[in-house]
Amino acid sequence: MEAAGRTALCVCSVLFVVTGVSCELIHIPSLVHHVIRGESLLLPVETRFPLDKAEIQGTWSYTKPSGTRITLVTFTKETAIINMGYRNWLNFKEPNISLGIENLNKDSEGDYHLSLNIEFHNQTGQVIKEEKTVAVTVDVPVSVPEIQKSPSHSVIEDKANVTWTCSVNTGTRVEFRWFRDNAELVSSERYHFTQDRSALLISPVKKEDKGTYRCKVKNPVSKPLESKDVELNVYYGPYNLEVNTDQGLRTGGVFTINPGELVFFECQADSNPPNSYVWISKRHNETQIITEGPRLEVLSYRLAQAEDYLCRAFNNVTKKQDEAQFTLVVARFGTDRGKQIQEAGSVLPLAAISVCCLFIIACMLLFFVRRTCHPKRVLMSIYNRPFSQQDRPHRSGHEDATEDFGIYEFVSLPGKMDSTQASCRSLSHFESGQDSHTTIYDVIRHVPENQCQSLLM
Ligand SMILES: *[C@@H]1O[C@H](CO)[C@@H](O)[C@H](O)[C@H]1NC(C)=O
Ligand SMILES: *[C@@H]1O[C@H](CO)[C@@H](O)[C@H](O)[C@H]1NC(C)=O
Ligand SMILES: *[C@@H]1O[C@H](CO)[C@@H](O)[C@H](O)[C@H]1NC(C)=O
Ligand SMILES: *[C@@H]1O[C@H](CO)[C@@H](O)[C@H](O)[C@H]1NC(C)=O
Ligand SMILES: *[C@@H]1O[C@H](CO)[C@@H](O)[C@H](O)[C@H]1NC(C)=O
Repeated sequence: MEAAGRTALCVCSVLFVVTGVSCELIHIPSLVHHVIRGESLLLPVETRFPLDKAEIQGTWSYTKPSGTRITLVTFTKETAIINMGYRNWLNFKEPNISLGIENLNKDSEGDYHLSLNIEFHNQTGQVIKEEKTVAVTVDVPVSVPEIQKSPSHSVIEDKANVTWTCSVNTGTRVEFRWFRDNAELVSSERYHFTQDRSALLISPVKKEDKGTYRCKVKNPVSKPLESKDVELNVYYGPYNLEVNTDQGLRTGGVFTINPGELVFFECQADSNPPNSYVWISKRHNETQIITEGPRLEVLSYRLAQAEDYLCRAFNNVTKKQDEAQFTLVVARFGTDRGKQIQEAGSVLPLAAISVCCLFIIACMLLFFVRRTCHPKRVLMSIYNRPFSQQDRPHRSGHEDATEDFGIYEFVSLPGKMDSTQASCRSLSHFESGQDSHTTIYDVIRHVPENQCQSLLM
């Protein structure tokens, strides 16, 4: 009998593998159920064969999480025997194999097994055995969680631990998750969760723990629910003390300012609560508090050549302080008119001079090549050169082109656009003291005519 049943099952499995069509004789749509306590549950069973063509015999049993197994119903097509202890909660009406359970509670949790023997009328003697298991959990929905912090007041970095607890009034099998500024928190060196994650200990608390905290809960029968936001304020700092100014020149810890300038310095540090700032001057190795607050105003004419300043930031809650020292040097580092004019004044003439030099070099090279190749034409063009061309920064200074061989010197003066002038052999009219830019060209005579022509071709 058993062997025959097994053969049928084997045939069935082979069929299933070959055709890909399930040929199981009974089907249970869902094998896992999460039920709210007090509600009822139907474990529906679909038979995939005509009930009038077969005899059936089976049992519904139930295994508690503790492992105890209890038979609930034993049935055939015609009769059913229901366990007396569970009569009030079970709905079973043969020949329908589905099992109904009412008023589920924590004790109803466990695995429900259906074991079924089937004997087809056309195959008497062959009993096919079917087994199904359905897992059932019973839970109480969770309520909106509440988040609490201990201590409730603000804390000082490195000097305190903070414990967060998330609690729900109702709910079983609650899953807790924690968020700070919408980012989920995980265990780390300083973040310790309790086993069920309902509490979080931050030890010790740090600057980066400052933020908005929230906990989220859910369980198999509830969608996620969020607590309200609670702030954690952490006192820290000062950190990253910096002294800045818009004026002057900065090189490391030295600021250079022009004489007569009024300069503002700003002292900044990251701190909670905000720092108090004190400015101290160090003159002749004696210190003196000049002013309080983040801003310092310095009138350079009141200074000696160089002076040391110190900005001290103090956090009166953490009792920590930081200092930044710098040297203020009064020196002329540009024109009196200011930084921008000074910058423009130095860059513009230089650029102009460079461009003019390049232009003149190009002109002279061209002139030189053309002249060596066609001396007569060059002569002509020099004689007939219009007056406007004489204004160019390229000037021969000689009437006779045959005398143009020799040393040329280009001299330019910075500061003015029209100062770019060229001279030949005479520099006498230039003020000697000025910073002038000169370039010397040597124009060589006697270049073979033929070679040059071939070069030009
Ligand atoms: C068995 O009973 C359940 C409800 O009691 C019903 O939904 C289902 O259709 C029934 N199955 C058959 C085959 O009658
Ligand atoms: C016996 O009957 C069942 C149901 O009608 C059918 O699925 C099966 O193929 C039949 N078996 C044989 C050997 O005729
Ligand atoms: C913070 O917790 C640590 C252990 O994690 C403990 O050693 C320390 O004393 C606690 N500090 C405070 C202020 O409670
Ligand atoms: C700390 O400094 C802040 C401002 O910098 C001030 O408002 C506060 O009164 C000070 N607290 C103490 C205890 O000195
Ligand atoms: C000033 O400097 C001298 C040495 O340069 C030192 O002996 C003296 O103690 C300093 N005075 C103060 C007030 O620091």
